Amino acid sequence: MRIAVIGTGYVGLVTGACLASIGHEVICTDCDEAKIRLLEKGILPIFEPGLDTMVTAEMRKRRLAFTADVRQAVAASDAIFICVGTPPMENGDADLTAIDQVARLIATVSRSPKLVIEKSTVPAQTGQKLKQALKVYSRSAGTHLSVASNPEYLREGTAIDDFLHPERIVIGVEDEAAARDLKEIYRPILDQRFDCPMHESGCPETTKPEWLVTTINSAELIKHASNSFLALKISYANVLAELCEEVDANVDEVTRAVGRDPRIGPHFLQAGLGFGGFCLPKDVQAFLRLAERVGVDFGLLREVERVNKRQIDRMVAKIRQALWVIRGKEIGVLGLAFKPNTDDVRFSPAIELIRRLLMEGASVRAYDPQAMEKARTVLPGVQFCTNEYEVATGTDALIIATEWADFRACDWQRIHATMARPLVLDGRNLLNGQKLRALGFEYDSFGRPDLIAEKMSLAA
Ligand code: UDX
Repeated sequence: MRIAVIGTGYVGLVTGACLASIGHEVICTDCDEAKIRLLEKGILPIFEPGLDTMVTAEMRKRRLAFTADVRQAVAASDAIFICVGTPPMENGDADLTAIDQVARLIATVSRSPKLVIEKSTVPAQTGQKLKQALKVYSRSAGTHLSVASNPEYLREGTAIDDFLHPERIVIGVEDEAAARDLKEIYRPILDQRFDCPMHESGCPETTKPEWLVTTINSAELIKHASNSFLALKISYANVLAELCEEVDANVDEVTRAVGRDPRIGPHFLQAGLGFGGFCLPKDVQAFLRLAERVGVDFGLLREVERVNKRQIDRMVAKIRQALWVIRGKEIGVLGLAFKPNTDDVRFSPAIELIRRLLMEGASVRAYDPQAMEKARTVLPGVQFCTNEYEVATGTDALIIATEWADFRACDWQRIHATMARPLVLDGRNLLNGQKLRALGFEYDSFGRPDLIAEKMSLAA
């Protein structure tokens, strides 16, 4: 099948490159002409491990191409993946403007049957509206445009592996033909039979993905339900951490034991600055708004959001507790991306924390292995450094805001020597508090009171 992917962001680029790598002929298109020009030269607007190599390889094999002419890309394709952004609006609703624009374009240019696949994260019942829009704007009555939902479960930093080796592939369809076509598109992944671009030694031993076929509404709901549950686990761990601080327990040990229960699982129980990124925060908001719209009280999810927002306040309170006065202090921040192994700073807790420290009158120095360029555009007034040691030099406190493995591997003796006050506030429970204390650091983190060093508090 000839496949078009509309939108060349984190989801669209990974989708296009991976579909090409399993043997399809894919054209990726975007209304941002500048982005397309760069992509045609193999220059990617985002960092995602392995993606640049894959894009270049698939372009060379002529299985992947880019064009700014969205109309031409759509007209020439049998299946169209919609991977445009659905950012949150002021009130938390997902902004579906781009979906509507793409629907009108597909309807006006299509002269042959096409399968239109929603991959962007959208609230339940969007597919019905998409179908309606395709019908209303369609120019040639005979053209059959069927709609399907195929939500993505890509995590930034592991997106290619997540696409090629998923636990499940979910599709929401209204007719057998759509299910058949989608199964043909994903056949190599379902059979786990393709040249594995990420592992020279062949695909990691993974079980074959489960193929889950349901209705469009259910498929759309599954996406929001999954992400919101992940967010719920994180907020639950963060309240546990607060409890541990009050009863002198250790949250890492508590969550490790709780996570051993196979019904709970060990993942997404890491306490810290909370969840950020372009998915979890907006998906929780959109899910809440959907529930409100249809009259369902999802107070549980409002609490998840409230706990998450409070994590930044709790870190600022720790800083104030340790420094007494924040105004005029030099504070170093390690980490700007919303999580490690990505350059994405959208809705990053690290960025939010730095904004708060600047508002409090602190001077902030910061470093991130990948996200510096993107952070510069959103953080005026910060001194950007080239490494962790430069960040630490002369500071009254050093904050771990993103759990990059590089930061664990630092020469902490050298850091101790350069700081005005050897105080570390570990916002991601990344470091070994005992080791830092043994080096003479004052140390605090979330939910591990046993690791707090003496003389932490200057405030009354
Ligand atoms: C998420 C979902 O995991 C993925 O399935 C979906 O398709 C897109 O959204 P992503 O946003 O890339 O993926 O990041 P994820 O790894 O989920 O982390 C989200 C945030 O939660 C990050 O800020 C991370 O630091 C934070 N987090 C994660 C925690 O605070 N604690 C944890 O235990 C796990």
